[in-house]
Amino acid sequence: MTEDTLPPYLGPQRVLSGIQPSGALHLGNYLGALKKFVALQDQGPLLFVADLHAITVWQEPQQLAAQTREIAAAYIASGLDPMKASIFPQSAVPAHAELAWIFNCVARLGWLDRMTQFKEKSGAHKERASVGLYTYPVLQAADILIYKATHVPVGEDQKQHLELTRDVAQKFNHDFDAPGFFPLPEPLIAGPGARVMSLRDGRAKMSKSDPSDNSRLNLMDEADAIVQKIKKAKTDPEPLPETLAELKGRPEAENLVGIYAALADQSAEQVLAQFAGKGFGTFKPALAEVAVATLAPIGVRMRALMDDPVEIDRVLKQGAERANAIAEPILKEVKAKVGYWSARS
Ligand code: TYM
Repeated sequence: MTEDTLPPYLGPQRVLSGIQPSGALHLGNYLGALKKFVALQDQGPLLFVADLHAITVWQEPQQLAAQTREIAAAYIASGLDPMKASIFPQSAVPAHAELAWIFNCVARLGWLDRMTQFKEKSGAHKERASVGLYTYPVLQAADILIYKATHVPVGEDQKQHLELTRDVAQKFNHDFDAPGFFPLPEPLIAGPGARVMSLRDGRAKMSKSDPSDNSRLNLMDEADAIVQKIKKAKTDPEPLPETLAELKGRPEAENLVGIYAALADQSAEQVLAQFAGKGFGTFKPALAEVAVATLAPIGVRMRALMDDPVEIDRVLKQGAERANAIAEPILKEVKAKVGYWSARS
C-alpha cells in the first residue's frame, strides 16, 4: 500500500513536542523548537519535559527534578501561556511508557539500526550504551502517538525519529487491522533556525553536550556573555556576499546569517541584502544586538520563574492532568486492539 492509498486519519489536529532536561538550553533549542511552539500556541499544544528520555544517559537523581523545572521555566519564559499550552513531565503520564512497550514489539531492529543519533551518542563503545538509548526513538513514537498528535515542531536533527514514528504508526495500523487509527504525524521543521550550528565550528551542531561553552548561546546567558561569545565566534576573512549561493563552503558565515535571519524573522536573502559587502566587524555587533534583544529577557524571566518552584509545580501538575485525560482513553483503545485481557469490556 502506498501512502496515498492509506486510509486517512480523520481525528482532530494536535500539536505536540518535547525537550529533554539534560543540560542548559541554547539558541538551537530556542530557534528550532521553542519559538515555533510559541507561534503555534493558539492550537493548544502538548509540550512535555522528556525526563524518560533524559535518563537514557546518566542524570544525577538529585538534579533531575530541578532540571525538569528549568525546562518548564524555559517554555513559559519563551512566551508560552500555560492556559493555552499543556506543559508537563513525560514521567507524570504513565501511558507514554506503556505504549512504548507495545511499540517495542511493533518496531523492527533493522529500523533502529539505521538511527544516526544512537550511533553518535553511543560513540565507539556501543555495547556500553543503555538499552534505553537504543530504543529511544520508539519511546519518542509513543510520546507522539499516545495523543494521536498530527503536527510535531522540532529541529532538523529529529527528522529521522519522526520518520520512524510514521513507520510505527503505519505498521501498527496494518498489523492490528486498524486503518487510520494512528495519524501519520507531520514534522514541522522548515525555517532558518531548524539547524543552528556551533559558534566554534560551522560544521557541528550547536549542542548541550559540546564541552565548549563558547560554542553556544545559552538561554540563561547574561547580555555580556552573549556579546562576548558572538565576538569570539569563528568566522572567515571575507565580507558577506550578495547571494546565498556564495555562502556555500563558508559554514560559519552561513550559520551566523541563518541565526540573524531566524532571530529577526527575516529570510537569509533579506539579511544578505542588508549586509552584502560588509565584514564581520560590522555584522557581529548587529547580530549581538538582535541576540541580546531576544535572549536576555528570556533569561531574566527564567531566573524569576525558577525562584518560584511552587508555581512551576502547579503548571506541571495541571499540564499532566490534561495530558493524562487525553492519553488514557487512547491507551485503552490500543490495549483492546492488542487483545489484552485487561482491556476486555
Ligand atoms: P532535545 O532536547 O535534544 O532538543 C529539543 C528541541 O531542540 C531542537 N534542537 C535544535 N534545533 C536547531 N538547531 C540545533 N542546534 C538544535 N539542537 C536541538 C531539537 O530538534 C528539538 O526539537 N528527542 C527529542 C525530545 C523528544 C521529542 C519527543 C520531540 C522526545 N520525545 C516527541 C518531539 C516529539 C530531543 O532530544 O530533543
